[in-house]
Amino acid sequence: MTAEKAPRLGILVSGRGSNMEAILQAAALGRLGATPVLVVSDNPQAPALAKAAQRGVAIAVVRRRDYASASEFERALVAELKGAGVDLVALAGFMRVLGREFLAAFPGRVLNIHPSLLPSFPGLHAQRQALEYGVRVSGCTVHFVDEQVDHGPIVLQAAVPVLPADTEETLSARILAEEHRIYPEAIRLVAEGRVRVEGRRVWILDR
Ligand code: GAR
Repeated sequence: MTAEKAPRLGILVSGRGSNMEAILQAAALGRLGATPVLVVSDNPQAPALAKAAQRGVAIAVVRRRDYASASEFERALVAELKGAGVDLVALAGFMRVLGREFLAAFPGRVLNIHPSLLPSFPGLHAQRQALEYGVRVSGCTVHFVDEQVDHGPIVLQAAVPVLPADTEETLSARILAEEHRIYPEAIRLVAEGRVRVEGRRVWILDR
Protein backbone atom coordinates (compact mmCIF):
# COMPACT_ATOMS: atom_id res chain seq x y z
CA MET A 1 0.00 0.00 0.00
CA THR A 2 1.12 3.51 -0.70
CA ALA A 3 0.59 6.42 1.62
CA GLU A 4 -1.18 8.28 -1.17
CA LYS A 5 -4.85 9.03 -0.84
CA ALA A 6 -7.19 6.48 -2.44
CA PRO A 7 -8.51 7.71 -5.80
CA ARG A 8 -12.13 8.79 -5.95
CA LEU A 9 -13.90 6.48 -8.36
CA GLY A 10 -16.77 7.37 -10.67
CA ILE A 11 -18.69 4.52 -12.31
CA LEU A 12 -20.59 4.98 -15.58
CA VAL A 13 -23.47 2.58 -16.25
CA SER A 14 -26.34 2.13 -18.68
CA GLY A 15 -28.19 -0.95 -17.46
CA ARG A 16 -28.19 -3.83 -15.01
CA GLY A 17 -25.10 -2.85 -13.03
CA SER A 18 -23.76 -6.22 -11.93
CA ASN A 19 -20.15 -5.15 -12.53
CA MET A 20 -20.87 -1.95 -10.64
CA GLU A 21 -22.16 -4.07 -7.75
CA ALA A 22 -19.02 -6.21 -7.78
CA ILE A 23 -16.94 -3.03 -7.63
CA LEU A 24 -19.01 -1.56 -4.78
CA GLN A 25 -18.85 -4.88 -2.93
CA ALA A 26 -15.04 -4.96 -3.22
CA ALA A 27 -14.93 -1.39 -1.91
CA ALA A 28 -17.15 -2.33 1.04
CA LEU A 29 -14.72 -5.14 1.86
CA GLY A 30 -11.75 -2.75 1.69
CA ARG A 31 -10.35 -4.49 -1.39
CA LEU A 32 -10.73 -1.84 -4.09
CA GLY A 33 -8.02 0.68 -3.23
CA ALA A 34 -10.38 3.38 -4.50
CA THR A 35 -13.43 5.09 -3.03
CA PRO A 36 -16.58 4.95 -5.19
CA VAL A 37 -18.16 8.39 -4.89
CA LEU A 38 -20.59 8.63 -7.82
CA VAL A 39 -22.51 6.41 -10.25
CA VAL A 40 -23.66 8.14 -13.44
CA SER A 41 -26.10 6.65 -15.92
CA ASP A 42 -27.08 7.86 -19.38
CA ASN A 43 -30.29 5.89 -18.94
CA PRO A 44 -32.71 7.01 -16.20
CA GLN A 45 -34.31 3.52 -16.21
CA ALA A 46 -31.05 1.69 -15.48
CA PRO A 47 -31.55 -0.81 -12.62
CA ALA A 48 -27.96 0.02 -11.62
CA LEU A 49 -29.11 3.40 -10.23
CA ALA A 50 -31.33 1.93 -7.51
CA LYS A 51 -28.65 -0.64 -6.64
CA ALA A 52 -26.06 2.12 -6.20
CA ALA A 53 -28.40 4.24 -4.10
CA GLN A 54 -29.17 1.22 -1.92
CA ARG A 55 -25.47 0.94 -1.20
CA GLY A 56 -25.32 4.63 -0.27
CA VAL A 57 -23.44 5.84 -3.34
CA ALA A 58 -24.50 9.14 -4.94
CA ILE A 59 -26.19 8.78 -8.33
CA ALA A 60 -26.72 11.07 -11.31
CA VAL A 61 -28.38 10.81 -14.71
CA VAL A 62 -26.94 12.52 -17.80
CA ARG A 63 -29.04 11.78 -20.90
CA ARG A 64 -27.57 12.11 -24.35
CA ARG A 65 -30.80 13.50 -25.73
CA ASP A 66 -30.65 16.49 -23.41
CA TYR A 67 -27.59 17.78 -25.29
CA ALA A 68 -27.26 19.04 -28.85
CA SER A 69 -23.93 17.34 -29.53
CA ALA A 70 -21.80 14.45 -28.33
CA SER A 71 -19.19 16.85 -27.00
CA GLU A 72 -21.77 18.79 -24.96
CA PHE A 73 -22.99 15.48 -23.52
CA GLU A 74 -19.40 14.56 -22.66
CA ARG A 75 -18.80 17.93 -21.03
CA ALA A 76 -21.88 17.37 -18.86
CA LEU A 77 -20.58 13.94 -17.82
CA VAL A 78 -17.20 15.43 -16.98
CA ALA A 79 -18.86 18.20 -14.95
CA GLU A 80 -20.79 15.64 -12.84
CA LEU A 81 -17.68 13.57 -12.22
CA LYS A 82 -15.34 16.49 -11.50
CA GLY A 83 -18.01 18.01 -9.27
CA ALA A 84 -17.76 14.86 -7.14
CA GLY A 85 -13.96 15.02 -7.11
CA VAL A 86 -13.62 11.91 -9.28
CA ASP A 87 -10.11 11.12 -10.50
CA LEU A 88 -10.57 7.55 -11.75
CA VAL A 89 -13.44 6.35 -13.96
CA ALA A 90 -14.77 2.83 -14.54
CA LEU A 91 -17.17 2.11 -17.39
CA ALA A 92 -19.38 -0.75 -16.23
CA GLY A 93 -21.81 -1.67 -18.97
CA PHE A 94 -21.83 1.94 -20.21
CA MET A 95 -23.10 1.51 -23.75
CA ARG A 96 -21.79 4.71 -25.33
CA VAL A 97 -18.50 5.49 -26.98
CA LEU A 98 -16.62 8.29 -25.25
CA GLY A 99 -14.52 10.68 -27.30
CA ARG A 100 -11.66 13.09 -26.98
CA GLU A 101 -13.55 15.60 -24.87
CA PHE A 102 -14.16 13.08 -22.09
CA LEU A 103 -10.84 11.25 -22.27
CA ALA A 104 -8.86 14.50 -22.14
CA ALA A 105 -10.47 15.25 -18.78
CA PHE A 106 -9.22 11.94 -17.29
CA PRO A 107 -6.05 11.09 -19.20
CA GLY A 108 -5.05 7.46 -18.66
CA ARG A 109 -7.65 7.18 -15.92
CA VAL A 110 -10.64 5.55 -17.67
CA LEU A 111 -11.14 1.77 -17.54
CA ASN A 112 -13.65 -0.47 -19.32
CA ILE A 113 -14.68 -4.10 -19.13
CA HIS A 114 -15.61 -6.03 -22.24
CA PRO A 115 -17.00 -9.61 -22.42
CA SER A 116 -14.46 -11.10 -24.84
CA LEU A 117 -10.74 -11.68 -25.12
CA LEU A 118 -9.88 -8.50 -27.00
CA PRO A 119 -8.92 -7.82 -29.74
CA SER A 120 -11.45 -10.53 -30.68
CA PHE A 121 -15.10 -9.53 -30.82
CA PRO A 122 -15.25 -5.82 -29.93
CA GLY A 123 -18.58 -4.02 -30.02
CA LEU A 124 -22.05 -5.27 -29.22
CA HIS A 125 -23.04 -8.88 -28.42
CA ALA A 126 -19.48 -10.07 -27.91
CA GLN A 127 -20.58 -13.39 -26.43
CA ARG A 128 -22.88 -14.08 -29.41
CA GLN A 129 -20.06 -13.14 -31.78
CA ALA A 130 -17.76 -15.65 -30.02
CA LEU A 131 -20.35 -18.45 -30.26
CA GLU A 132 -21.10 -17.74 -33.90
CA TYR A 133 -17.41 -17.64 -34.78
CA GLY A 134 -16.90 -21.01 -33.11
CA VAL A 135 -14.01 -20.16 -30.78
CA ARG A 136 -13.22 -22.73 -28.06
CA VAL A 137 -12.12 -20.11 -25.56
CA SER A 138 -13.53 -16.67 -24.86
CA GLY A 139 -13.43 -14.51 -21.73
CA CYS A 140 -13.27 -10.92 -20.64
CA THR A 141 -10.89 -7.98 -20.74
CA VAL A 142 -10.31 -4.92 -18.57
CA HIS A 143 -8.57 -2.21 -20.57
CA PHE A 144 -7.79 1.47 -20.55
CA VAL A 145 -10.18 3.41 -22.77
CA ASP A 146 -8.89 5.20 -25.83
CA GLU A 147 -10.75 6.78 -28.73
CA GLN A 148 -11.43 3.48 -30.50
CA VAL A 149 -14.12 1.05 -29.39
CA ASP A 150 -12.96 -1.69 -26.97
CA HIS A 151 -9.36 -1.04 -27.93
CA GLY A 152 -7.00 0.53 -25.37
CA PRO A 153 -4.09 -1.10 -23.47
CA ILE A 154 -5.07 -4.29 -21.64
CA VAL A 155 -4.76 -4.49 -17.84
CA LEU A 156 -6.22 -7.95 -17.08
CA GLN A 157 -7.94 -10.75 -18.99
CA ALA A 158 -9.60 -13.99 -17.92
CA ALA A 159 -10.23 -16.93 -20.21
CA VAL A 160 -13.49 -18.89 -20.18
CA PRO A 161 -14.02 -22.13 -22.16
CA VAL A 162 -16.84 -22.25 -24.69
CA LEU A 163 -18.72 -25.50 -24.10
CA PRO A 164 -20.56 -27.49 -26.81
CA ALA A 165 -23.95 -26.94 -25.19
CA ASP A 166 -23.44 -23.22 -24.57
CA THR A 167 -26.09 -20.70 -25.48
CA GLU A 168 -25.49 -16.96 -25.47
CA GLU A 169 -27.04 -16.93 -21.99
CA THR A 170 -24.93 -19.70 -20.43
CA LEU A 171 -21.68 -18.41 -21.95
CA SER A 172 -22.51 -14.84 -20.88
CA ALA A 173 -23.17 -15.99 -17.31
CA ARG A 174 -19.82 -17.82 -17.05
CA ILE A 175 -17.97 -14.85 -18.52
CA LEU A 176 -19.81 -12.49 -16.18
CA ALA A 177 -18.55 -14.37 -13.12
CA GLU A 178 -15.00 -13.70 -14.32
CA GLU A 179 -15.83 -10.06 -15.08
CA HIS A 180 -16.89 -9.63 -11.47
CA ARG A 181 -13.57 -11.09 -10.32
CA ILE A 182 -11.12 -9.22 -12.56
CA TYR A 183 -12.70 -5.77 -12.73
CA PRO A 184 -12.31 -4.91 -9.02
CA GLU A 185 -8.80 -6.38 -9.14
CA ALA A 186 -7.81 -4.25 -12.15
CA ILE A 187 -9.21 -1.13 -10.48
CA ARG A 188 -7.19 -1.91 -7.37
CA LEU A 189 -3.98 -2.29 -9.39
CA VAL A 190 -4.52 1.07 -11.08
CA ALA A 191 -5.69 2.76 -7.87
CA GLU A 192 -2.60 1.59 -6.01
CA GLY A 193 -0.34 2.96 -8.73
CA ARG A 194 0.91 -0.50 -9.65
CA VAL A 195 0.26 -0.18 -13.37
CA ARG A 196 2.60 1.37 -15.92
CA VAL A 197 1.55 1.80 -19.53
CA GLU A 198 4.07 1.88 -22.38
CA GLY A 199 2.33 2.05 -25.74
CA ARG A 200 0.02 -0.94 -25.79
CA ARG A 201 1.91 -2.82 -23.08
CA VAL A 202 0.77 -2.63 -19.47
CA TRP A 203 3.28 -3.56 -16.79
CA ILE A 204 1.99 -4.66 -13.41
CA LEU A 205 4.40 -3.93 -10.58
CA ASP A 206 4.86 -5.93 -7.34
CA ARG A 207 2.31 -8.66 -7.92
C1 GAR B 1 -21.12 -6.72 -19.16
O1 GAR B 1 -21.07 -8.04 -19.66
C2 GAR B 1 -20.02 -5.87 -19.79
O2 GAR B 1 -18.83 -6.60 -20.01
C3 GAR B 1 -20.67 -5.49 -21.09
O3 GAR B 1 -22.01 -5.20 -20.76
C4 GAR B 1 -22.39 -6.00 -19.64
C5 GAR B 1 -22.95 -5.09 -18.59
O4 GAR B 1 -23.48 -5.83 -17.52
N1 GAR B 1 -20.00 -4.37 -21.68
C6 GAR B 1 -19.79 -4.24 -23.00
O5 GAR B 1 -20.18 -5.04 -23.82
C7 GAR B 1 -18.97 -3.01 -23.40
N2 GAR B 1 -18.52 -3.09 -24.74
P1 GAR B 1 -23.67 -5.18 -16.09
O6 GAR B 1 -24.48 -3.89 -16.30
O7 GAR B 1 -24.43 -6.19 -15.31
O8 GAR B 1 -22.31 -4.89 -15.52
